[in-house]
Amino acid sequence: MFDTLDAVRDDFTRRIESAATDRHLPMHLAVLSTRDADARVLVLRAFDRDSWTLRFHTDVRSPKCDIIAQHPGVGVLLYDRSAKVQLRIRGEARVETDGPVADAAWEQSTNFARRCYLGDGPGTLAAQMTSGLPPQFEGIEPTDEQLIPARPNFAIIQVEMREIDWFFLSHAGHRRAQFARQGEGWEGRWVAP
Ligand SMILES: Cc1cc2nc3c(=O)[nH]c(=O)nc-3n(C[C@H](O)[C@H](O)[C@H](O)COP(=O)(O)O)c2cc1C
Repeated sequence: MFDTLDAVRDDFTRRIESAATDRHLPMHLAVLSTRDADARVLVLRAFDRDSWTLRFHTDVRSPKCDIIAQHPGVGVLLYDRSAKVQLRIRGEARVETDGPVADAAWEQSTNFARRCYLGDGPGTLAAQMTSGLPPQFEGIEPTDEQLIPARPNFAIIQVEMREIDWFFLSHAGHRRAQFARQGEGWEGRWVAP
């Protein structure tokens, strides 16, 4: 099944492509880890195969954006329990609030999704349990006009993939391969699981 490094490369490429577009797949939820030894779940929003770039959406006020600005090296963990495949990706991240990709991502979001960016920034101290949203938008979809102040808080995180560690758990013997970016493609090698 995974007899060659080419077959493994095809496998991780296909898995990432599907994960970005199918919200029912386990790999649609990624774990992004940063230099401060923190990690969090983010929705994988898009994958650009030509530049090997993953895209996430976030609030530019969230602490991870400051960390990434200082230390762009990140890890992205994807795991599919039923397929028994783990992908450990290392890459260079950048946070973008403006530009064509961020603008398009905002345009394609629903007003319900955009509503998250109207509230207090992630991690803001609160005197009591809170959604952080202004009370008038609790459970209510804001209008385009009401969302104007939300746009500056919206950001995309683009992660350019540099290395992939692919692991397949199997009774017949686990399999593991590592790949490093070489220009447009990947140079792979087998390693002991
Ligand atoms: C299932 C799930 C999906 C999430 N998706 C996102 C997301 O797409 N973008 C995001 O910024 N935070 C998302 N979060 C919240 C983050 O995990 C995290 O709590 C938040 O971004 C603040 O992170 P920070 O304090 O490390 O900056 C999600 C959480 C869960 C449980």
